[in-house]
Parts: sequence; structure tokens; C-alpha cells
Amino acid sequence: MKLRNIEINNKIGEEVTLFGWVNSRRDMGKIAFIDLRDRSGIVQVVLVPSELNEESQAIIKDIRPEFVLEITGVVNERGEKQKNPNIPIGNVELLAKSVKILSQSETPPFEIDNEDRQAGEELRLKYRYLDLRHERMTRNMQFRSDAMLFIRNYLHEQNFIEMHTPILSKSTPEGARDYLVPSRKFPGKFFALPQSPQQYKQMLMVAGMERYFQIAPCFRDEDARADRSPGEFYQVDMEMSFVSQDDIMELAEDMFTKLVKTLLPEKELTFDKWPRITYAEAMEKYGSDKPDLRKDKNNPNELAFCWIVDFPLFTEQTEDDYFHGAGDKWAPSHHMFTAPREEDIPLLDTDPGKVRGLQHDMVLNGVEAGGGSIRIHSPELQEKIFNLIGFTEEDKKEFEHMLTAFKYGVPPHGGIAPGFDRLVSLLMGESSIREVIAFPLTSDARDLMVEAPSIVSDEQLNAVGIEIKKT
Ligand code: AMO
Repeated sequence: MKLRNIEINNKIGEEVTLFGWVNSRRDMGKIAFIDLRDRSGIVQVVLVPSELNEESQAIIKDIRPEFVLEITGVVNERGEKQKNPNIPIGNVELLAKSVKILSQSETPPFEIDNEDRQAGEELRLKYRYLDLRHERMTRNMQFRSDAMLFIRNYLHEQNFIEMHTPILSKSTPEGARDYLVPSRKFPGKFFALPQSPQQYKQMLMVAGMERYFQIAPCFRDEDARADRSPGEFYQVDMEMSFVSQDDIMELAEDMFTKLVKTLLPEKELTFDKWPRITYAEAMEKYGSDKPDLRKDKNNPNELAFCWIVDFPLFTEQTEDDYFHGAGDKWAPSHHMFTAPREEDIPLLDTDPGKVRGLQHDMVLNGVEAGGGSIRIHSPELQEKIFNLIGFTEEDKKEFEHMLTAFKYGVPPHGGIAPGFDRLVSLLMGESSIREVIAFPLTSDARDLMVEAPSIVSDEQLNAVGIEIKKT
């Protein structure tokens, strides 16, 4: 098993073999220094010709950045003046005895070692496998993995069951455009990739799962922004039966507070108890339903979480809105399964614009980090909402499975879905969500590394009964 670089910290005096990439090399007369990088950190390797076997002596002049090496040597404590407490492997170095080149590297298209990241994003994405070698990117990927594990453990401890819902699915009404997948067995018919597992997770509540979660891939064909991926992203998707809105908010608040305190102790939470602000109050006081409540916006470690509640259930549609099936004045502010506040139900008949929904948005430093709600669980009320948002009988048929399911004993339920990538990027202080996704699409939704989307063969098109329109 490969020894990780970081493990040599407590192996002073021992002979070890390390594997890794050449981060940089410096030549000081006859002696050369190599910074050998692996995922765990960088080790300084000292190459003194007289200490090396003959074969190694002959090749060290060829070694260049990004070569992959196997180095056997002795771990030495650095001299007091050479110690560097600011790096993970700063007290020791490796005095090489033998060096083997496992693979060579051309000069990379950009400097991997370079902290100021001058390479343009397109170049970085085309050579993402090189970009990910950068320490900052490795740190982001490691944090992403740690956060995922923390969430999984936390939710399993709280009796959640982790389940997968289909990827090949049906158009879902989350308000964005769908990614479509043609069916070969049924030419002319399409699957849609889920914009979220919303309907499935509600069905899992009808099925008696009571507490479900999934780190769920979601697909939305929408324009990119710094905090929005134009293709796929992940949600920490949760749903619970027999809960109040308070229960949902308390659970999410406790989970993320503990996550930050455990994984990022250097961060400062502005609020131990996250403020709950009504939509009306937020708009009046801050002019936004995503207020940035940090005390010092220049403090990169400050995290100000808050909740926004009591959103209007509907918003008035504008011509630019894209909403599945909508032919009328009202569109759901969150989604069409969000329950109205009990006391506002009579207003559905008289003044729908005044109805408040049991929606809760989780906001972090001025960004919407998650959204959820208590759901409608009465088929009659659900149908009433469908009517209000202008659904025709045909539109309603698309959701018949839900109305039918709700007739067979549906528990009151609700949930939330924090955006996983978005949270990770906010917690890591990254300005773009793409910095925490291993292989993100560009802002115009292309994968530059594998060159997707791509043209497919006529044979493939024929198989699914598709003909491309010439424009
Ligand atoms: P909503 O549509 O509000 O709710 O999405 C929940 C969270 O997902 C994240 N998010 C995104 N992250 C990256 N790129 C995107 N394009 C993108 N779109 C959304 C955001 C957002 O807050 N089914 C409901 C949740 C529920 O009601 O339980 C839903 O999807 O952080």
C-alpha cells in the first residue's frame, strides 16, 4: 500500500518509499530539491548525487514538473532554520537514495503550482485533471467529500433512510427547462432528467418511509450564474412525515451548525440560533428575500445563516417566466406542492395573492442555500392549487399519480433541499460554484474536456426516431 506523504511526519530516521508528482524542482549547484506532491501534501526531497545509486544519478537531470516518481529515501528532520510550521510536512524532508521515473509529463498548459490562478477558466476546464492537482482544488474536493460524509452520518443517526430515485424520469415542475432523453423503445417519447426528486420523495412518504434523504443529482437547463450550475448539481434532498415546519428548520439548522463547527472550526457563525424572518419583513428591511446578515462583510470566515418564512404562495407571472403548464396569472413561488398556511386557506377563493405558503428558505451570506416546505397532502387542496395556476384537465393528468396516491393514506409531510454544491462553495469562500465541482460545465453548458454536447451518429438518431432539423 502506498505511503501517503503526510505519514512521514512521524517516521524520522526510517527508510520509506514515496510516490507522487513533481510540484517543482530547484537546483542549487550539485544538490537538487524536488517538491513531491500527493493528495496529502508536499514533501521536500533532497537529491545529493553521492547519496543516490548510479541509475538514479543518471536520470535526475531529466526530471521536470509533473513527472510521476517513485522515490526511496530516509526521512530526516529539517534543520531548525529550515523548518516551516505553515505547511503540513514542514519539519521533515526526504534524503533520496533511489529515484524512478514512473511517467513523464509534457510542459503543462498552465502552471499548476501557481497560486494566483492566471490561467483562464476555459483552459482550466479543458485540462481539468491538471487543474484539480492544484492544492486549492484538492482542498475543495476533500471538503466536499468530508461534508458529504458528515451529512450522511448525521442523517443516518437521525433515522433517515438513504434512497435513490430515478434519473430517467418525467418532466418535473421546478420552473426550469428539462434535459430530455429520447426513448428507443417508444420513439417519439422522452424521459426527462429530474430537476429534483420532489414527486418521488413525496411518494416515499406515502410509502411509509417517514424520513428519507439522498444526495440527489438534479438537472436543470438554465442559464449559469456564479451560484448556479447550468446543467447538473446536487441537493441534500430530505423529506419527513409527521413534522412541523419548525422541526424541519431545527433539524437543518442543527446539522449545518454542527457540520461547520466540526469541519471548519476557523469559521465564525454570526448567529447561534438562526434568525427567522418573514418574507414581508425581509423585503421591507433589506429589500431582498436573501438578506446578507454578516456583521463584517470583509471577514472571509463569517457565516450568517438565516431562515426566510411566510413567502407568498403565488407570484404573478410575467411573460418571461417559464412555468410548466401555466396559462394563468399565478405561478407557485416555490413549487405547486407547497401547502398554504392553514389560516390563509379561505383567501385562495378571494385573494390568492395574499396567501402565505409554508415555505422555508435557508439563506447564507445573502445567497439562497436551500428551500423547502410543508406539502399539501389533501387531494382536494392540491387540485385547487392546480386550478389556480391555470392547469387544464390535461395538465392535471400529468400529476394524477399524486392525486391518486394521496387517496390511500398520506401522512402530513414536508422537507427541504439545501443545494450541496452551492453550500460547499459558500463554506469554502469560493466565488463560483464551479470551483467545488470536479468536472463542471462552462457557463454556456459545455464540457470542454470531453467535448460535450456532441453530435451523435445517424444510426443512433434513427434508433430513437429522431431527425435533426436543418437550420
Ligand atoms: P429549489 O428549486 O429551491 O427546491 O432548489 C433547492 C436548492 O437547490 C440549489 N439549486 C442549485 N444549485 C446549483 N445550480 C442550480 N442550477 C441550482 N438550482 C437550485 C439551491 C436551492 O436553494 N424540490 C425542491 C426542494 C423541496 O421543496 O424540498 C427544490 O428543488 O441551493
